[in-house]
Amino acid sequence: MENRDLRFAAFSAAVAITAFGPLYWAPRETSWFMGYRFWLLIAAVVISEVLAVFVSASGSMSLAYPLFVATSVLFGPIGGALAGMASMVPNLFARPRMTPSKFLFNTGQMMLTASVPGWVYVLLQGRPLAISPLVLSDIRGLALPLLAAAVVGVLVNFLLASLAIRLLYDVPLRKSWRDSFMWMIPSQLALGLVGLAIAQIVAVLGAAGFALFATPLVVARQVHQRYVDLKEAYSGTIRSLVAAIEAKDPYTKGHSVRVARYAVAIARGLDLRDEEVERIEYASLLHDLGKVGISRALLAKESALTDSEFNQIRQHPDIGAHILETVPFLADVRPIVQYHHERIDGAGYGQGIAGDAIPLAARILAVADSYDAMTSERPYRHALTHEDAVSELTAGVDRQFDADVVQAFIAAMPAMSEPAAGTLTEEGVALTHA
Ligand SMILES: [Fe+2]
Repeated sequence: MENRDLRFAAFSAAVAITAFGPLYWAPRETSWFMGYRFWLLIAAVVISEVLAVFVSASGSMSLAYPLFVATSVLFGPIGGALAGMASMVPNLFARPRMTPSKFLFNTGQMMLTASVPGWVYVLLQGRPLAISPLVLSDIRGLALPLLAAAVVGVLVNFLLASLAIRLLYDVPLRKSWRDSFMWMIPSQLALGLVGLAIAQIVAVLGAAGFALFATPLVVARQVHQRYVDLKEAYSGTIRSLVAAIEAKDPYTKGHSVRVARYAVAIARGLDLRDEEVERIEYASLLHDLGKVGISRALLAKESALTDSEFNQIRQHPDIGAHILETVPFLADVRPIVQYHHERIDGAGYGQGIAGDAIPLAARILAVADSYDAMTSERPYRHALTHEDAVSELTAGVDRQFDADVVQAFIAAMPAMSEPAAGTLTEEGVALTHA
């Protein structure tokens, strides 16, 4: 067993003990246990896991969280823990090859996610809703404990998931929070609030009340699935275009993916918005798309190019932009591709624009592209070392490159050896499960 596996096994055991242990002291009011409302929610948890939306090969996102919150504040921590356990049942069938420590971790994680809201609520307030449903005069006193219950459950879930990813794949915590979890937390919090509403309605109206919520939850799930499918279709399109570029120009093998990684790191370093970072990632993957319009013999030529040959090569940004015109979801990627060989002093090729007239995203791509070109082995020259490539970039500031972009690149360099989490170019990380 590797060291890493041992560490993860120890962590899984600790999570499982933390999940099971405190239940010994949980308030034991078990009259609800045989009640139909409890089993209704348990059945809903199982169904929601069966219908979980697969986000990537190793991660999925289900609508179990509102049901966890509902079960937990209705029936207390023990009820929540049982809901967490129930959520693992479909996984036994869907992912039979899950290792024992992953299974132990996932079970403990789900139990904690589902029982912590109950603990927070019971410790702050006392009686689970199944025993005493809210009445209007309670709302003021109970709003805070209920909100705290929903929030703490989400935090526990993501904290445990990021620790597991850290141990299993060496992805730093802040990276998985930033790349994968930040965008999921608001929606999970909103679902937690839905869970609170489910709890109160079920406490007052029983099964009929639950039916009110089942439909919108199923609709939400369908919408989410559509979104994930659409994203998948987009990345599929981009991957096949990248494959087309690489088939045409073997020297660029792996180039686009590396450039995308550098460009994304620079964009993050410059604090660009997430959508802008994604646009830059797509553009980096596709920047040399125009090379599909240039002859293979010319791309592979090892001796010096004639003027007319060089003029042909210079057309690739325009050809690439032209191809992208036909792909609606890549429309805003076009200008980045079109201007990726421009220079700050206006002496680049493409349109010959200069300075701030060149979109920032294209200035970022230019630095990432040049660095990778310099540090890659080519038939006509050796690869530069990292230090030499960086001094070339610095020497080109304000002539070829943007000063802020080069600075951001140098600052981001140490972090670039870290594996990327959950981007197009790497296998996605687990989301709510390891
Ligand atoms: Fe290029």
